[in-house]
Amino acid sequence: MSELTVVPNPPHLARAAADRILGLASAAVAERGRFIVALSGGSTPRPTYRLLAEESRARTIDWSRTEVFWGDERCVPPDHPDSNYRMASRALLDWIQIPDRRIHRIPAELPPQEAAAAYRAELEQVLGEGGRFDLILLGLGGDGHTASLFPGTTALEERERSVVAVYVEKLASWRITLTLSVINDARHVIFLVSGSEKADALAGVWAGEELPAGLVRPSEGTLTWLVDRDAAADLPPGRPPVDSAD
Ligand code: 6PG
Repeated sequence: MSELTVVPNPPHLARAAADRILGLASAAVAERGRFIVALSGGSTPRPTYRLLAEESRARTIDWSRTEVFWGDERCVPPDHPDSNYRMASRALLDWIQIPDRRIHRIPAELPPQEAAAAYRAELEQVLGEGGRFDLILLGLGGDGHTASLFPGTTALEERERSVVAVYVEKLASWRITLTLSVINDARHVIFLVSGSEKADALAGVWAGEELPAGLVRPSEGTLTWLVDRDAAADLPPGRPPVDSAD
């Protein structure tokens, strides 16, 4: 099942995303005693993370039962400006009462293959045999990438391992990423997409073009696209109306 919700602008996007995340977190803890989430990187989710850190929302999640992972990481130290861990820490994790043992940082300062192996081991230990993410947050790149699954990279072909290191030619850099096998096994996947620079890629995904983000098709879970009006500008007519609900 996939859903597209178009909201007017980035503040609406952040509110819609934060409220969805809170709902999924409460349900997961109620049903299974914990909430296992993978945060997305880049800049789009930052306002959402900041909203989650606001006291009124932060207190509705049992952070002691929340396992925080990342969907991908740049191969830089955790204090590097490009670090997805650093962004999420500054926007959210530094502001809430979450035990350190619940924060599963990708050790991206290690050599890439070592970092991927260590993160894979930690993820599989926490999820357990047959375990699944409750929620994976994803972004969309202008080239249709998501997490660090870039067009033409070997990571797209991986069907066994849950985490791999991938060299991204266009960026001339290494990344660590969840693979499609673990992403498509999640209970819920939410894409957050904002801005006119994503309109072409979003329309491409919608048109069925061979783009990495279009390969995200949860086998049993739900798929939600939360996009703002600018990002939705190139979608075919007849798309769902703008959801202006707060
Ligand atoms: C990353 C992300 C990546 C991101 C998209 C969109 O590490 O950069 O995982 O997949 O979500 O590139 O990035 P923006 O939100 O910055 O546009």
